[in-house]
Amino acid sequence: MAKKQTAFVCTECGADFPRWQGQCNACGEWNTVSEVRLGSVSTPGRGAQFGGYAGSGDNEVKTLDQIDLAELPRIASGFSELDRVLGGGIVPGSAILIGGSPGAGKSTLLLQTLCTLAETMGALYVTGEESLQQVAMRAHRLNLPTSKLKMLSETSVERIIDIATKERPKLMVIDSIQVMHMADIQSAPGSVPQVRESAAFLTRFAKQNNIAVILVGHVTKDGSLAGPKVLEHCIDCSILLDGDADNRFRTLRSHKNRFGAVNELGVFAMTETGLKEVANPSAIFLSRATEQAAGTVVMVLWEGTRPLLVELQALVDHSPLANPRRVAVGLDSNRMNLLLAVLHRHGGLMMSDQDVFANVVGGVRVAETGADLALLLAMVSSFRDQVLQSDLVAFGEVGLSGEIRPVSNGQERLIEAAKHGFKRAIVPKANVPKKAISGMEIIPVTNLNQALEAL
Ligand code: TYD
Ligand code: MG
Repeated sequence: MAKKQTAFVCTECGADFPRWQGQCNACGEWNTVSEVRLGSVSTPGRGAQFGGYAGSGDNEVKTLDQIDLAELPRIASGFSELDRVLGGGIVPGSAILIGGSPGAGKSTLLLQTLCTLAETMGALYVTGEESLQQVAMRAHRLNLPTSKLKMLSETSVERIIDIATKERPKLMVIDSIQVMHMADIQSAPGSVPQVRESAAFLTRFAKQNNIAVILVGHVTKDGSLAGPKVLEHCIDCSILLDGDADNRFRTLRSHKNRFGAVNELGVFAMTETGLKEVANPSAIFLSRATEQAAGTVVMVLWEGTRPLLVELQALVDHSPLANPRRVAVGLDSNRMNLLLAVLHRHGGLMMSDQDVFANVVGGVRVAETGADLALLLAMVSSFRDQVLQSDLVAFGEVGLSGEIRPVSNGQERLIEAAKHGFKRAIVPKANVPKKAISGMEIIPVTNLNQALEAL
């Protein structure tokens, strides 16, 4: 007989311990470890419930070349931006987590996807947050085909599995994992143990039955909510839908992907008729103000397989505080501090008595070091109150000794900038293309001082 087990789980981060302790070793929080009764399903044999783990039929040892490579065709979601982020479509039988803050548009995106996919394959949409009527009204308003998609309003994992076993869909959405609960787990829905066990149970069920399952997970602005972080190990792909309710554009990015690259960016626009993909997003984040102001520079980023032109703003202003403020929105603030140190040491520009604010226009998040040079130029431009030409772009990585290092895909970045009417580019010397780009004056720089002179 299956035996009942207990575990001690931190309600903040989900780490578990063999006995109770006052402080969680994993996240350092106090008084967050609580005892959780795991149901009989938590005993090691629980995989056997669905006939063993996926692929448990071939439990003999094989070399890699003996394994049948007949790949299952991926399911095209109908949104090429979503497919691109997933690495070419939904892999049958995979588990995907889509995270995002409330109102980002997760339910809208999945409803649009499933309504269309249901036309050709079995699809089940489980909603635990909205009533069936609300979902139906939304589908109707968005003019989606509604006759084939199977809907279920349910929050009990056991019942969802019962119904899915009967329905045998190829694709199942759980909206959202935070409201799902299992009877055997003695803690509230939404708590770390419930979320973790529900997700583990659902993904295992999906794998064994070759159902692709998409879990919706909310993340709050500070990213601390129980859920996505503790789920990442049991799912195949984790994607994040990002965007403020007051901004039209939504970006989709993958953070983990067992079936493809993680650096792809998908761009959508939220309209009155749902999410629409932006097929050519390279210039949507440019504000193109008629009056150019000091502290503004356009940079060319490389997102996965395409270039993206993004405007960067910096404001450097005398600070009344003993510890001046350093605020970076959409950028890494450590990177900004590093550039300020480089500017001081190698450029002789001292900003230690200045507040420094930097912002990426359009709510884009920049992780690439290729943004260094543009950020540096924006800060210098604001510091000197010097307006830069509106047809200037810049990219390049800045090293600690003040050298400007090349970045990947330099030529493609320059061609894209030229396409959008930019006429001058400050770039690392090694990124200068062999063939001149018509209409584009390239200013190669190798170190900080050359870059400052180029302004
Ligand atoms: P929703 O998909 O419910 O967000 P989530 O599931 O991520 O919490 O999207 C909600 C937001 O999207 C809501 O603030 C209104 C906006 N929206 C539109 O602007 N147009 C539309 O057609 C739809 C359906 C939603
Ligand atoms: Mg929702």
